[in-house]
Amino acid sequence: MTERIDIRNMRTRTEAINALPTVPSALKQISAMFEKPRLSIDELSGFISGDPALTSKILKMVNSAAYGFPNRISSISHAIMLLGFNVVRGLLLGVSVFDLMQKNIAGLWEHSVGCAVAARCIAQKKNLQEPEEVSICGLLHDIGKVILILHYPREYETVLAKARDEGISLFEAEQSRFEATHADVGSWLARKWRFPVNLAEAIEYHHTPHLSRQAKLETAIVHVSDILVRARGIGINGDMLVPDIHPESWTLLQLTDDDVRDILAELETAASEAEDL
Ligand SMILES: [Fe+2]
Ligand SMILES: [Fe+2]
Repeated sequence: MTERIDIRNMRTRTEAINALPTVPSALKQISAMFEKPRLSIDELSGFISGDPALTSKILKMVNSAAYGFPNRISSISHAIMLLGFNVVRGLLLGVSVFDLMQKNIAGLWEHSVGCAVAARCIAQKKNLQEPEEVSICGLLHDIGKVILILHYPREYETVLAKARDEGISLFEAEQSRFEATHADVGSWLARKWRFPVNLAEAIEYHHTPHLSRQAKLETAIVHVSDILVRARGIGINGDMLVPDIHPESWTLLQLTDDDVRDILAELETAASEAEDL
């Protein structure tokens, strides 16, 4: 059996994302900016507004059904005011890894947008204070897959093939080849990029929600959203399996049949939009 790639090597490489030649320069700049201990709203909105392509992608997202604001949001500073700093930061990352996502795992973007929509919808039903922040966890929860494929292209191809051939989940297949999974990798980045701890935790435990300590609710929401989106067949996330919802998450969320129907209806609208985005 081939040896697994060790966790320290994985973490160092993940955190050195800025050094990767295949990462577009815009993403390198964003990543470097987020690592600074202090980033002001002006700096963030100035950076985004200086790039017309990024600006239009973000405005498209915030004006989509994923957020469902009744009036048009016309500027980045307006978006920050309505959605908050962390959400706009998360969107910026989401849209800037988008090209990488599509190139490497087709359908991962649709899957991610679907999770963002479902997560926001559940968070609202559960009266969480920042439903838009939870939706960012949905958008970024599988970002670790993109990072793994960039750093370990050959090894990750074998992981994808193993999942396909053996009919196991990608999460399981990753464990056979790596000491850490895409969930760990995503959370290392979220921490390095100084996202709030509950967001990082929801990413870290989205496949093992019972292990979450500080963000049980957010983690359960991302976990359930991920599975609902797969069950609904929106996008592709690298494997064909729909795992069971963890009973602890299901009990915690107490979703009714009506809730699930509403979430699926929102996913329907968003799925058609994700293609345009
Ligand atoms: Fe995942
Ligand atoms: Fe996922």
